[in-house]
Amino acid sequence: MMNKDAKIFIAGHEGMIGAALVRCLKTAGFNNLITKSFSQLELTNQSEVRKFFLQEEPEYVFLAPVKEGGILANTTYPAELIYVNLQIQTNIIHFASEVKVKKLLFLGSSCIYPKFCLQPMKEEALLTGLLEPTNEAYAIAKIAGVKMCQAYNKQYNTNFISVVPTNVYGPNDNFDLKTSHVIPGLIRKFHQSKIERKKEVIIWGSGTPRREFLFVDDFADACLFLMNKYDQSEIINVGYGKDVSIKELALTIKNVTEFDGELIFDGNKPDGMPYKLLDISKMNKLGWSAKTDLKKGLKKTYTRFKEIRRESKK
Ligand SMILES: NC(=O)c1ccc[n+]([C@@H]2O[C@H](COP(=O)([O-])OP(=O)(O)OC[C@H]3O[C@@H](n4cnc5c(N)ncnc54)[C@H](OP(=O)(O)O)[C@@H]3O)[C@@H](O)[C@H]2O)c1
Repeated sequence: MMNKDAKIFIAGHEGMIGAALVRCLKTAGFNNLITKSFSQLELTNQSEVRKFFLQEEPEYVFLAPVKEGGILANTTYPAELIYVNLQIQTNIIHFASEVKVKKLLFLGSSCIYPKFCLQPMKEEALLTGLLEPTNEAYAIAKIAGVKMCQAYNKQYNTNFISVVPTNVYGPNDNFDLKTSHVIPGLIRKFHQSKIERKKEVIIWGSGTPRREFLFVDDFADACLFLMNKYDQSEIINVGYGKDVSIKELALTIKNVTEFDGELIFDGNKPDGMPYKLLDISKMNKLGWSAKTDLKKGLKKTYTRFKEIRRESKK
């Protein structure tokens, strides 16, 4: 159990999940948080990371920074994805061990599971089949992170845990239309279409694939829960526990953004896997489940999206 004055390093606190972790820890009364912006600490730089850990000696570490960018990044710069992500996580995991942090939480991703994994995806499915080729570089880096945590636990008796989140969304998401994930991309598209009084919004694919989405503040709450209660090397899934079709998702976003035109599904565009859902029975057995339903989470995300746009216009 972390003390309220424990020294906690949140790496990647300017990202969506890192920012939610800071909010969650502050709300829970933790008062000794360490954060460093990208410009203050370049996490790919081994000597900078070493110096930081030796100087600060954090007791707990949340490892959230990542180089990402959706399908586009995976297909256009896989070399950068694998190089940068391996460097960031390797530096942090290694020097966290050197200064004997009490516990570290590494963030995996559901893309570490095989492409044709049985659904819902159980933790045991890791490394039982081929990966989805379009995100292989990113997934291999994540799998290396999981395996590195396990190896350090074995050899150095560290307490490094790995969490596998489903798709996470919320305030501070990336709303760039070229690199965003499905929820922020659709929010922006519907919002823009409403402002421009368009009659329709075109959505890629048939709308039938099913996906799972978890609100970021719930995910941060799960990370804090695991930091206090989970001490095993085996990965653990964190999800909402239910999926929705892309069509249901799009209709909910249409409702939340108050767009009153039509939805057109472009069936000529690829659909991807028909299903993707995590098995969260391990997490549920520990006593945790998500609180925020999709509509409520989307409303909070849209409210923040509009605030950011207003602020950027000032
Ligand atoms: N979001 C999801 O749905 C999801 C799902 C599964 C797993 N995850 C995992 O959860 C973690 C956090 O994801 P997120 O969605 O919060 O990502 P995010 O919003 O992209 O945040 C990542 C942060 O890391 C920073 N960063 C990147 N390279 C860095 C470097 N070399 N040195 C210092 N900082 C650096 C980024 O800074 P810049 O913005 O300036 O580049 C950004 O602030 C990641 O490990 C990700 O793989 C996320």
